[in-house]
Amino acid sequence: MSIRDNAERYGQVSRWLHWGMALLILWQFLSATAHALLSDTPVEEFLWATHKPLGFLLLILVVIRALWALSNLSSRPASINALAKLGHVGLYGLLFVVPALALLRQYGSGRAFDPFGIPLFAGFEGDEIAWMVEPGNWLHSWLGWLMLVTIVGHIAMVMHHRRRPDQIDVLPRMVR
Ligand code: HEM
Ligand code: HEM
Repeated sequence: MSIRDNAERYGQVSRWLHWGMALLILWQFLSATAHALLSDTPVEEFLWATHKPLGFLLLILVVIRALWALSNLSSRPASINALAKLGHVGLYGLLFVVPALALLRQYGSGRAFDPFGIPLFAGFEGDEIAWMVEPGNWLHSWLGWLMLVTIVGHIAMVMHHRRRPDQIDVLPRMVR
């Protein structure tokens, strides 16, 4: 199988990014769910410790994935309809905005942040920076759950196209 995409199927890089990120995102929502429903339990303590570093990794991966998608734009499988295209672009948008807002909030809070031991922000003394903190406070969690709804819709549409004989089965493009 080729590294790059072609008109019939996604290539190796796109598949690794798609399925690898799908697994990491599943874990990210396990930690978010534990934070929402199991606060102050050992399960939350264990899962929540991974939320910020993994979210940071996902932000880097989505930038790489978007650049890869753009460089393959003229050669990858065509979207089957406008809604599918909109859904995929929407997922990219949420995958960027949700962690970006949280990272901005993290910086503006003045607290140090060193994901995977990388000293990203040293933190600072004094008041937090409101314009950096407020958008994340308002939107990070809501847009995060919206992303989950969109992903469930994405999976449901793949299954819908697969089951109905009058539709194009798109799963082989990403699997076979
Ligand atoms: C794709 C990446 C991410 C997703 C899908 C995501 C998703 C979520 C969701 C759904 C919640 C709500 C949990 C609840 O209702 O209790 C949440 C909360 C939170 N997330 Fe993330 N997150 C991501 C990345 C990040 C990053 C990079 C950081 C920090 C650097 C972060 C920090 C937080 C914090 C502090 C909360 C609790 C406060 C709040 O609800 O806004 N997240 N996240
Ligand atoms: C976290 C979960 C997921 C996210 C964020 C996601 C996101 C995306 C995105 C953005 C695309 C467009 C191609 C690309 O740029 O990579 C895509 C394509 C695709 N996804 Fe997912 N996906 C997820 C999970 C799944 C799952 C569980 C399935 C299997 C049921 C699936 C099946 C597919 C298929 C078959 C395509 C190709 C669709 C086409 O070419 O029309 N995805 N996905």
